[in-house]
Amino acid sequence: MRCRRKPSWRCSRLNDALLVDRAPRSLYVHIPFCASKCFYCDFNSYVAGDAVRSAYVDDLTVELRLLRDAYFGAGERPCLDTVFFGGGTPTLLSSSQWRRVAQTIHELFDTASDCEWTAEANPGTVDPALLDTLLAIGVNRLSFGAQSLNETLLQTIGRLHGADDVARSIELAAAKGFTRINADLMLGLPDQTVQDVSDSLRGVLETGVTHVSAYGLKVEDGTPFARWQEAGLLRLPDEDAEVAMYETARDILASHGCAQYEISNFALPGQEARHNLGYWRNLPYLAAGAGAHGYVRASRYQNERSLTSYGQRVRRGERPVTEVQSVATGAAMEDTMMLGLRLQEGVSYAHFRALHGVDMRDVFGNVLDRLSRQGVLLQGVNEVRVPPAYFEVANEIFSAFIGVCS
Ligand SMILES: C[S@@+](CC[C@H](N)C(=O)[O-])C[C@H]1O[C@@H](n2cnc3c(N)ncnc32)[C@H](O)[C@@H]1O
Ligand code: SF4
Repeated sequence: MRCRRKPSWRCSRLNDALLVDRAPRSLYVHIPFCASKCFYCDFNSYVAGDAVRSAYVDDLTVELRLLRDAYFGAGERPCLDTVFFGGGTPTLLSSSQWRRVAQTIHELFDTASDCEWTAEANPGTVDPALLDTLLAIGVNRLSFGAQSLNETLLQTIGRLHGADDVARSIELAAAKGFTRINADLMLGLPDQTVQDVSDSLRGVLETGVTHVSAYGLKVEDGTPFARWQEAGLLRLPDEDAEVAMYETARDILASHGCAQYEISNFALPGQEARHNLGYWRNLPYLAAGAGAHGYVRASRYQNERSLTSYGQRVRRGERPVTEVQSVATGAAMEDTMMLGLRLQEGVSYAHFRALHGVDMRDVFGNVLDRLSRQGVLLQGVNEVRVPPAYFEVANEIFSAFIGVCS
């Protein structure tokens, strides 16, 4: 299928005012350290001692400057609306390492007065002194990887913490003054039952979290889980059981007042993750750190994953980028649809036009009409969206947009 108005959106890329070409206002910072590797995880993280972490922080501060200088004029202080420290386990950094990173960000960037600063944290890795440091440097949102409150399951998936650590860490953070706290939960774990999901969810909600992410387990290549699956040693719930877990989670969260604003994300009113909303709205963002990827000026870039190569390149005064992929206008428009339809709010015609300078219906009219006829897409006056009942088959819906323009 072809886009109806290819020539007009080709020209639009030349227009600097398009949202997709504007200066990024979000920064992702990757902290690639964990106390041990969970059996399912393929995020770029390493088990390393304090000397390695300290050298990495040195390199990171250099990279942040190279990154700012690459996209902005000398002395320019671009303004950030969100900063996200992800991992790995950012809370393995010491207070002084945190202060160095934050000081560098403040030297290089302005931050909006309501800037959202999120740090991922592992249960059992926060103490009062570290939480005081995080508050002092401006972190105002924490995201804990709880995964489950079932002790056996936590061990099965290779977590170092117990269920008590989840409640203790979240309650400690709340007592220190953090009002925006997320807990990640995982669904579809080995031998997990719907009852486990329900108990874990009720347990984390009791701690007062304001946001929950519920992720279905993905068996990633190269992980112990992938090896065990291949050897027939991983007993995973079947698809129906996983759907039942997802629906149970949805019901409990809804009755708790947490709206499903994205396929895997639920929040009390006003507690949505603004940084992640930027990804789903296909807005540009800067990213620093080993293995981080960013999206700036119509290009996606990926940093060196290995700490050694990352450090060597940064210390030579080079950006540690391994791959830059320019995103053609058509591909960017497809991304806007596939990312935005993950959101309950969908994709508004106004947002699409602000991003790309053309009307969504001129580009994707045929696909939108076909999906609407199938009942899996709602075309409203202001936006198109997927009814939440179809979130479970969202990937099939998204696939209808692939290759339409690229
Ligand atoms: C970047 S990870 C790190 C968070 C933090 N290090 C932790 O584990 O507590 C963010 C979340 O992704 C989810 N996750 C990681 N690997 C996954 C996988 N293979 N399948 C589904 N969810 C996964 C987990 O819920 C995890 O908390
Ligand atoms: S899930 Fe979190 S703690 Fe576990 S290995 Fe991945 S990043 Fe590290």
